[in-house]
Amino acid sequence: MFDIHHFDGIIYGADYNPEQWPRETWPEDARLMNEAGVNLVSLGIFSWAHLEARPGHYNFDWLDEVMDLLHQHGIGVNLATATASPPPWLSLKYPDSKPVTADGIRLEVGGRQLYCPSHPAFRSHVRQLTEQIAQRYQGHPALKMWHVNNEYGCHVDQCFCDLCAEEFRTWLRGKYGTLDALNFAWGTAFWSQRYGDWAEIQPPRRAPTYANPTQQLDWRRFSSDNLLTLYRLEAGVLQQITPHLPVTTNFLGFLPGLDYFKWAQEEDVVSLDAYPDPSGSRPHMEAGMSYDLMRSLRGGQRWILMEQAPSAVNWRERNTLKRPGLMRLLNHQALAHGASGLMFFQWRASRAGAEKYHSGMVQHVGPDRSRVWQEVKALGQELKSLRELTEARLPARVAVMFDWNNWWALEIDSKPAALKLMPLVQKWYAALRQLGQNVDFVHPEGDLSGYDVVALPNQYLLAAAGAQNIRSFVERGGTLVSGFFSGIVDEHEHIQLGGYPALLSDVLGLWIEEWLVMQPHEEQQMQLLSSGKTYGVQNWAEVIHVTGAEILATFQQDFIAGQPAVTLHPFGAGQSYYLGGDFTEEAVTDLLEQALTQADVPVCRVPESLNVTLSALGDDRVLHLLNVHPTQSLQVGLPEGGTRFENGAPLPQAITLPPYGVLLARYSRAVRINELNIVAEASARLAGR
Ligand code: GLA
Ligand code: ZN
Repeated sequence: MFDIHHFDGIIYGADYNPEQWPRETWPEDARLMNEAGVNLVSLGIFSWAHLEARPGHYNFDWLDEVMDLLHQHGIGVNLATATASPPPWLSLKYPDSKPVTADGIRLEVGGRQLYCPSHPAFRSHVRQLTEQIAQRYQGHPALKMWHVNNEYGCHVDQCFCDLCAEEFRTWLRGKYGTLDALNFAWGTAFWSQRYGDWAEIQPPRRAPTYANPTQQLDWRRFSSDNLLTLYRLEAGVLQQITPHLPVTTNFLGFLPGLDYFKWAQEEDVVSLDAYPDPSGSRPHMEAGMSYDLMRSLRGGQRWILMEQAPSAVNWRERNTLKRPGLMRLLNHQALAHGASGLMFFQWRASRAGAEKYHSGMVQHVGPDRSRVWQEVKALGQELKSLRELTEARLPARVAVMFDWNNWWALEIDSKPAALKLMPLVQKWYAALRQLGQNVDFVHPEGDLSGYDVVALPNQYLLAAAGAQNIRSFVERGGTLVSGFFSGIVDEHEHIQLGGYPALLSDVLGLWIEEWLVMQPHEEQQMQLLSSGKTYGVQNWAEVIHVTGAEILATFQQDFIAGQPAVTLHPFGAGQSYYLGGDFTEEAVTDLLEQALTQADVPVCRVPESLNVTLSALGDDRVLHLLNVHPTQSLQVGLPEGGTRFENGAPLPQAITLPPYGVLLARYSRAVRINELNIVAEASARLAGR
């Protein structure tokens, strides 16, 4: 169980790697942590080689000392199981514990995360180390929670070795029971692939041409599950020895390799590492999308930002620093989207090693002369007045459907076009955010009952249970907005026959005959019948036949000129919109606005540079406004009756949000987002000046 009340307000801290520093540094670290308001550190993540320098010889003296020191300073510990990077001796002692790529290359010592999750000796060393740590520190007063491993699947999310092949076969036997069932699911009648013995089945290693798509899909599912087995091994030890302490492992947002909907059910609190690129076109959209996913994984439970960079990272081609004010702003954004903890990688910037150019709360210049230090210290202070936010919830009336199975299936090769899921999800998410919506992500089989609108940027793979869930959502009065190439295949990636998307055809009031995949130079447009407004269409357009749906827009070029591009169909007590092509963000925004408005969901057009969330704190509402623009101020007309969250001072009717400015307004009534009135205003002022 995770209870924020066992922590000292909003969690604030960092990864702490004292083993990289002489002992004399440690007391200074603790003193400075107090100065910055740090109340929790993640300790020991990469300490395996220090804790167990030789097999079975443990040395905990230094860790005892650090734990005691932190406790003396009132700092809690999120203690790692230290299994993230096995020491060189382990890899040398068990050469086949080193993971293998799809091309059959065994990876070598010198980096980190060098393990095959299936290796029996690796697993037993992991268990022993976890037991040793848990037994030793179970009663330590500094210990607040457990940090299992680190970023599973970050570097190696699939291992193609023989041990994993054997585990894969076991997993497949569990799933299919018989070879006949597997042969059917994998469609092995095609290309003479029929299996007569379980032993013939291999991982989808590099093959002469396209590997069997269902083999690929099951392999991704297995690889996620196989790492989850490893997580379970550690979490199980911890839950047994310290049942009263929360367990987490740090996620990576939209990480392709792991089905986090499944993973999150096995931890007490979701935690996230987020490294949006400050030079990206809209880092807050990228970050916000991960934040909203994290909150959605466990039904709205608040989560912990476990890692972020205080300023620059070291692992991009060009590593942009966070300009004055941006670090604070992005932390406010995490709070606004449901975080209860704000932590950094890392406490003190390393002196040596591959990450020495990665920023730390304490930079190489030391604290006193450092801008970054001033900013992290100021944030630590500021958080003290915001602790009530850890009680807030973010009610959302719209959800974006998301599923790893679909992501994997869509991006398997040999499709009509090489479609990528993320750009579609990003486009729809950005559209909803710019309509002022709090956005949840929901699994196809998740609970849809709390939403007015469910948006499917793409759901290529849709199993019968998911289709049924969507159907009853609409039947009960919900509004569905579906994107193109959705509902095409079942869970085995078999086509649903009879006119796409066969399982939703009656819900949408249409069927699709074929797809027009467009070349980059080809042009297509669609026009809304109501307004006459036209929008560009790229990549994809569909040949749609309506069977009851109203046509809202038509394509303009080629042989589909005049044929449906966007449709609306009443079904049960609800209705379904269908967007039959890859439309621009403007088009998606306009259409989602229409759907939301029709569903009685208040909408507010929000400029790209304003991050807005509306949360509920008991009966009160908190409006969190963030100007993410580095140089432009924003004029905002506020809903009436607001007070400043930090001190209760009444707010005026209108305010100016400076570049990177933050405003938290509190209301003792149910504010609607359309009470906001935003006027963007150009200004030459630079953030932080
Ligand atoms: C990840 C890891 C950290 C560190 C940072 C650097 O989040 O968990 O150990 O490598 O990236 O950005
Ligand atoms: Zn392996």
